[in-house]
Amino acid sequence: MTTEPLRVVCPRCGKEHRVDVSKIPAGATKAQCRACGHRFALADSARQSDTPKGPGPRRIGVCLSKGGVGKTTTAVHLAAGLALAGNQVLLVDTDTQGQDAYSLGVKPKAGLTELVTGELTADEAVVKARENLWLLAGGRSLAGVKRLIDRKDFGGELTLAEALEPVETAYDYVVVDTSPGWDPLTVNVLFYVYEVLTPVSLEVMTLQGLVEFLKSMSAIQKYRSEVALKYILPTFYDKRIKNPDVILKRLQELYGDLVCEPIRYNVRLSECPAYGKTVYEYAPGSHGAQDYRALVRKVTGNPKLFTVGG
Ligand SMILES: Nc1ncnc2c1ncn2[C@@H]1O[C@H](COP(=O)(O)OP(=O)(O)OP(=O)(O)O)[C@@H](O)[C@H]1O
Ligand SMILES: [Mg+2]
Repeated sequence: MTTEPLRVVCPRCGKEHRVDVSKIPAGATKAQCRACGHRFALADSARQSDTPKGPGPRRIGVCLSKGGVGKTTTAVHLAAGLALAGNQVLLVDTDTQGQDAYSLGVKPKAGLTELVTGELTADEAVVKARENLWLLAGGRSLAGVKRLIDRKDFGGELTLAEALEPVETAYDYVVVDTSPGWDPLTVNVLFYVYEVLTPVSLEVMTLQGLVEFLKSMSAIQKYRSEVALKYILPTFYDKRIKNPDVILKRLQELYGDLVCEPIRYNVRLSECPAYGKTVYEYAPGSHGAQDYRALVRKVTGNPKLFTVGG
């Protein structure tokens, strides 16, 4: 009989380990994190984040049909932040704009298209972007993947899941960036991920966009109940303007705990992609870096992450 691995979270760095229960010595009370070396009591390591599934990586889709709300910025900084915390992270760019590679300053020759079409193996299609952070790049060639999905007689919506499932086992998190609009690849993302993180820029138009997106998502949930809206991330928060507070309050009334601490408007966030650097590298003390670290703490469920003594 096979038993499910025990999920152990390091209380210091948030790294989640899957431990074969049969290999834990009888009477063991302590564990050591393979990522940061921290020794801790097994009793303190109860899983802190409420993952809705069993073994395998957490699959998080960053989605909203409206353009320019901070999807790419969020996907890149969530993935890079999780990697800095010691997790193995795969960032998947499903957008023809291919901006994730640009933001990380890497120029992959191949990516998601070649993996889906089977032209390349996972090892060839995935590029290392940073320590612990790997990228399956997007780009213009994804237009061909959309046509491939359209041409399938059945099961087109599972194309991405079928390509990623053999690859994902090496990772703790798979973060998927999506394109604006609603196309076959967006549908594929919602048939792959378990958790959806929706960035909402604080303007009225985006609130409408969120409602529209959630309607489309609930149509998918009829066929795939495992996908859930987990996080609403207010972006472009600027205290100098009155309207964002009204919209933020409205979001909190409507969606309660799903609403994360906002990401402030921060010019460093708009500058760093041009240097191929994350904001943690480009301006580690900036509001942008602080706010995305807070998001990583929320997603990992580890409030001590990146804090002094944490
Ligand atoms: N909090 C922020 N403060 C200032 N600029 C930001 C912030 N977040 C993102 N930006 C900038 O705003 C622009 C749009 O952000 P981004 O590309 O992340 O949005 P997107 O939702 O991925 O867009 P698209 O829908 O086109 O894919 C980018 O130039 C980005 O650098
Ligand atoms: Mg984008």
